[in-house]
Amino acid sequence: MNEEGRLLSAVEAMRDAQHALALTGAGISVGSGIPAFRGSQGLWDKYDPSEYAHISAFIENPKKVWGMLKELYGIMKGARPNFAHKALAILEEHGFLKGVITQNVDGLHQRAGSKRVIEFHGNGNTLICLSCGRIFSMEEVSLEDLPPTCPCGGVLKPQLVFFGEPIPPQALDEAFREADRCDLMLVVGTSAQVYPAAQLPYKVVDRGGGILEINLEETPLTRELPTLFLKGQASRILHRLVKELLISP
Ligand code: APR
Repeated sequence: MNEEGRLLSAVEAMRDAQHALALTGAGISVGSGIPAFRGSQGLWDKYDPSEYAHISAFIENPKKVWGMLKELYGIMKGARPNFAHKALAILEEHGFLKGVITQNVDGLHQRAGSKRVIEFHGNGNTLICLSCGRIFSMEEVSLEDLPPTCPCGGVLKPQLVFFGEPIPPQALDEAFREADRCDLMLVVGTSAQVYPAAQLPYKVVDRGGGILEINLEETPLTRELPTLFLKGQASRILHRLVKELLISP
């Protein structure tokens, strides 16, 4: 099937679905200027994840890891939702999507208007003191001197999930409960290499649901599951999907 045929099949699948969900990854925010993790321009090309992304690395050397986080916060602060985020909000508003499960911590889905967002890897808006557990919002914290600390002297850690940390239990439960009910999952801009998030599409297929995958390149899902693969930038493909679903007869 050619690209146009696949796109029209995707439109059909969206029209037929009773409980469609999106699962998103870093690729959806690349159009907003936030780099993805893997690949040649990826964050893990510049920063070795074993030295910067594992909780044990953070605990061992928070100043070093905060150097990378400060750069990331600087990029996220200036970022705005792109059309791909808006498209998912529009699809939810018109009843084509029940919600978004995101691995991203940038808050761009909510800013684009998505109402139901499950943040599987936490988010960057809040910080927790590793000594006393007090929670701070990012606005109250200065990144002049790194690492930022609590008045009690403890180191502050963003409430996003580092490798080696558990998924926030509520997000985990909700995402897997949703996957149980999902008959079509739109998997957008994720390399599908990080578990347990990458398990969600397999669960959907096990229960008889379908997968629509939007990515610049194939992933393990494309190879291992019967996905309808739409190759290209998330904003371009989602623009076509929204147009066909909302405007075309
Ligand atoms: N449109 C569609 N897909 C894109 C685009 C784009 N404009 N740009 C990049 N991609 C795709 C890439 O081809 C890749 O498959 O997005 C994917 C990004 O993959 P990763 O960088 O691995 O991001 P993600 O899958 O979200 O990573 C999962 O890994 O390090 C952890 O916690 C971090 O949540 C993150 C998790």
